[in-house]
Amino acid sequence: MSKLYEEYKKSYDIYSHLNGKCYLNVVGDLYERPEIQRMSEYEQHLEIDRLQHMTSVSYLSFLICRRLKLDYRSAARASIMHDMVFYDWRNPAEMWHRPHGYLHPKFAAENAKILTGGNFSEKEEKIILKHMFPLTVTVPSSREGLIVSLSDKYCATRELFYSLSKSYKKRFLKEIGRNV
Ligand SMILES: [Fe+2]
Ligand SMILES: [Fe+2]
Repeated sequence: MSKLYEEYKKSYDIYSHLNGKCYLNVVGDLYERPEIQRMSEYEQHLEIDRLQHMTSVSYLSFLICRRLKLDYRSAARASIMHDMVFYDWRNPAEMWHRPHGYLHPKFAAENAKILTGGNFSEKEEKIILKHMFPLTVTVPSSREGLIVSLSDKYCATRELFYSLSKSYKKRFLKEIGRNV
């Protein structure tokens, strides 16, 4: 578990280490697209923006799948787009995307199809569509999908801790070498 946390921390500076470079070899063409970079403008879990969340989930999914000799490419590529929706889900003025928790996988999969120009496998689509399990009753249909779903919960939990606990945030920032 501590090894997972060590890697999670590295997802906050993806360009600075070897595993990050291996990861970017697989997803860099998507990661650098303005549509993905724009995700930093949206709040995901309180103080953590959507780009950072998707990067953490995708990077951990990549590493776990690579370690288990699974299809790390599909896991990493699907998960860098798994929450790619272009709205603030907390905006009370907009109702069309609610309930967000249930509907956003479908919107993200549609956006992923557009972003990739259709170069998007059925497996990748299902990883995105089913990533909200167990909130939704769509059970992941591949081992890669299950790993993405679990990574999503792991990262969301850490992001909420970061946002809600001053001592956790202070320690975390110190550990990743950022100013407190
Ligand atoms: Fe999501
Ligand atoms: Fe997510």
